[in-house]
Amino acid sequence: MDTAVDYSQLKVPNHVAIIVDGNGRWAKERGLPRIKGHDAGFNNMRTLLRYIMSRGVKVLSLYVFSTENFKRPSEEVSHLMWLFVLMYRKELKTFMEDNIKVVFSGRDDPLPKSVIKARDELIEATKNNTGGIVNFCMNYGGRAEIMDAVKKIVKSGVDVDELNDDDFRHYLYHDLPDIDLMIRTSGELRLSNFLLWQNSYAEFYFPDTKFPDFHEADFDQAIIEYTSRDRRFGSAKS
Ligand code: IPE
Ligand code: IPE
Ligand code: MG
Repeated sequence: MDTAVDYSQLKVPNHVAIIVDGNGRWAKERGLPRIKGHDAGFNNMRTLLRYIMSRGVKVLSLYVFSTENFKRPSEEVSHLMWLFVLMYRKELKTFMEDNIKVVFSGRDDPLPKSVIKARDELIEATKNNTGGIVNFCMNYGGRAEIMDAVKKIVKSGVDVDELNDDDFRHYLYHDLPDIDLMIRTSGELRLSNFLLWQNSYAEFYFPDTKFPDFHEADFDQAIIEYTSRDRRFGSAKS
């Protein structure tokens, strides 16, 4: 894929996370129903994620449905669930071609069986791929993930006095590296319960662009901005 931006001059983050936001407003602006915004968002995601992985990013976490999103009207939730099944089935071949391993973060309940089946098929088919990881956060909540980790720790009977940050990470849904760059599209300036543990030292980038319009060149801009950031991790360096 050709790009006008020379990535060899940029810092490429190891782990990028995206809060896919603004589908509903994108549709509203065009006088369309919200579900058309989700269709456009999902189409965009299919090409964008391939581009991002091709730029040297090792892990990409995508927030596609929060635990709280079940509060939305049932027609919208059903449409999103249908889109998940469609996307996971359609993209399986592409993930295999690109050698991408797909993992999921989130709780099963109350996801429909059809979504769980398509998800599990994708996990199984891609489990030995080594070219990068795409982590779909679906029916995901950051507090739920931490709560679930705490429950696992208590049940395991581990000596809690011996437990450190790195050990805790093993009890999360996946033992993924910390997020380097967190992008939320559509101009909202909040985390909405996304990867609370993993975002501790992430650089945040909040473009106004709504997700269906957030394309390759917009991602390039995020990487240019990320390259200019001074990450200090609490040190005195300036
Ligand atoms: C994000 O877009 C997509 C999902 C939650 C799956 P929204 O549906 O939240 O779009 P807005 O925020 O209403 O514009
Ligand atoms: C967060 O977006 C969840 C996803 C993008 C999947 P929301 O649109 O649901 O978040 P709020 O309600 O604006 O905080
Ligand atoms: Mg939203």
